[in-house]
Amino acid sequence: MAEDKVTEDMSSVQITASAEDEDVVDPWNVTSKSDTGIDYDKLIKRFGSSKIDAAVIERFEKVTGHKAHPFLRRGIFFSHRDLNTILTAHEQGKPFYLYTGRGPSSAAMHLGHLIPFIFTKWLQEVFDVPLVIQLTDDEKTLWKDIKLEEAIRLSYENVKDIIAVGFDPEKTFIFSDLEFIGQCPAFYQNMVRVQKCVTFNQVKGIFGFGDSDVIGKISFPAIQASPAFSTSFPFIFGKAKLPCLIPCAIDQDPYFRMTRDVAPRIGMPKPALMHSTFFPALQGAQTKMSASDDNTAIYLTDTPKQIKNKINKHAFSGGCATVEEHREKGGNCDVDISYQYLTFFLDDDDKLMQIKIDYTSGAILTGELKKELITILTALVGAHQERRAKVTTEVIKQFMEIRKLKYNYS
Ligand code: TYM
Repeated sequence: MAEDKVTEDMSSVQITASAEDEDVVDPWNVTSKSDTGIDYDKLIKRFGSSKIDAAVIERFEKVTGHKAHPFLRRGIFFSHRDLNTILTAHEQGKPFYLYTGRGPSSAAMHLGHLIPFIFTKWLQEVFDVPLVIQLTDDEKTLWKDIKLEEAIRLSYENVKDIIAVGFDPEKTFIFSDLEFIGQCPAFYQNMVRVQKCVTFNQVKGIFGFGDSDVIGKISFPAIQASPAFSTSFPFIFGKAKLPCLIPCAIDQDPYFRMTRDVAPRIGMPKPALMHSTFFPALQGAQTKMSASDDNTAIYLTDTPKQIKNKINKHAFSGGCATVEEHREKGGNCDVDISYQYLTFFLDDDDKLMQIKIDYTSGAILTGELKKELITILTALVGAHQERRAKVTTEVIKQFMEIRKLKYNYS
């Protein structure tokens, strides 16, 4: 029988805020009372992860021979677990793989969802390792008012956006839980191994489940845990027991603290993680961009006109009330959403720095900042839509077929 005792990893899995003034960060809610958003340093302490600091970035660059991605240099991927183990494996030419995912709750993905996928694509290029992408359509039918068939349909809509990010089909396996798991006994066997290790009390503590939650929710964490074990994919990895690196926003961490706790008990390596901050809602950094409210999010399906209107109308401004006041006192980049978005998507470090200086001094106005952002996002979303339009049924099949990737394992 699984023991009910709280082990080291499980003890730090408490995800709901214990004090009134604490930020709430869990797979379903992200809220902060502060205008500047989540206090990520505090979160690292609370979750017990490690900061991606200058020394980690330096080692990353040295080991990979690649200049750090802007998301790393700018603190967007800010926290990790065991990244050094992965870097050492890479240094020694030992194999590992990447794992990430998406819960298809809506047909259109938004800009926030792109963050982990853009970064994962870069990691795939840097490390040249296999990547598995899980579409948790089972999770979405369990949590939302979405029929099972509809959840599968949404997986097939979202997979087009994911493929459009530019993954390599020879190195990438994408799967829908509802379609794949029934075809892969090894995956199901790992799910049951995980289920044997975690008690109801523990998942209640980790995820806050209550007595009236359906039983599917209670067992779901084992499904998100299983892709972190290479033996779940024998057609890719054979019998090799490889570590993996999981890039995701920090809201997904509770699943993987549980996974890391279970791993050694089922004879598998603990997955490593790289966590990102949240791409904020248009209305301000107190919440993440979320698909539940059309006006808080910019979707990958939005037209140039919609993007322009949403930013002009809804993007929270750190500027002053009048032009005169703004010229005199300057704007506040720490709360200005247009500036925050530029930190994600304006690649030119010097230009970003200049914008910060000019906005803070009052030399540029909110309207000018928004104009810059609209130009960048319109181009980014437009290019994404062009790539997405080329994702045919044939291309989807290429990524989702159960098959060997281009790597050999003994
Ligand atoms: P989902 O669909 O909520 O989110 C997909 C990925 O996007 C991240 N994310 C964000 N990142 C930055 N800013 C935001 N505003 C934002 N909103 C969402 C999420 O952290 C996630 O990385 N249960 C998962 C699906 C999943 C998964 C995984 C995710 C299954 N296995 C492994 C990451 C890694 C979910 O519903 O993600």
